[in-house]
Amino acid sequence: MSVQTRPQRLSVAAIKRRKGGDKLVCLTAYTAPVARLLDEAVDLLLVGDSLAMVVYGFHSTLPVTLDMMIAHGAAVMRATGRAAVVVDLPFGSYQASPADAFRAAARVLAETGCMAVKLEGGEEMAETVAFLTRRGVPVMGHVGLTPQSVNELGGYRSRGHEPGERRKILADGVAIADAGAFALVVEGVNETLGRELTEAVAIPTIGIGASPACDGQILVTDDMLGLFDEFTPKFVKRYGSLGQHIRQAARDYADDVRSGRFPAPEHTYAAPAKRAKTSA
Ligand code: KIV
Repeated sequence: MSVQTRPQRLSVAAIKRRKGGDKLVCLTAYTAPVARLLDEAVDLLLVGDSLAMVVYGFHSTLPVTLDMMIAHGAAVMRATGRAAVVVDLPFGSYQASPADAFRAAARVLAETGCMAVKLEGGEEMAETVAFLTRRGVPVMGHVGLTPQSVNELGGYRSRGHEPGERRKILADGVAIADAGAFALVVEGVNETLGRELTEAVAIPTIGIGASPACDGQILVTDDMLGLFDEFTPKFVKRYGSLGQHIRQAARDYADDVRSGRFPAPEHTYAAPAKRAKTSA
């Protein structure tokens, strides 16, 4: 008799060991059906706070709440069994103090079952990263273009082109790695900076608009599937045009309903066949 064992989820330790090895393949996931489809192809799924824009139509990541992140994180965990799952700590849940960050992270780990949290920021967040990792919370850092700081940065432009800013982002990445993060997202930076940062830290860097030299890459799944027709950032490669397929499917359905082609007999429940009368 053969015993079917469930494939093991990739652990945080296994992700960390991939520094300089096989590239880490990462995507965002927010819902159970999509996470289920992505699970077998990727190493890591990030329940990113980009869901504020992608799922809820907000104009920034700032309005997303801890409860929203937990609901989506739990859905992604229920639907997957292979990829490591990391959930973003939302804006306002961790910046004020390490103790706040611990309370938010503990809820995320306990209520979703995911293995790690991600938080944005550099040198100023190093103390918090050390506080969390010393208390059993694996942390993924996020430096460079940090969308939760959009109001301070004044937009979503790529960063690190000017020497002062470049030095600062490099110091940010090193500080977060030294504080105990197991991996580091590097977003929207000059390519040579992405490369230099990857060489400077002993943990895997996960690039998004950073550099092919990063130890892994991540994209927002809805961008790479082509669910949006509008602006696509320079660093996104589209692997599908699902937006067009959805629009066309909706038009075809509308035509069928309006013309009476749908529902057809095969989509309706037939009345039960009349019973033959039996004589007593
Ligand atoms: O929220 C998110 O989706 C992210 C990725 C862009 C890295 O942080």
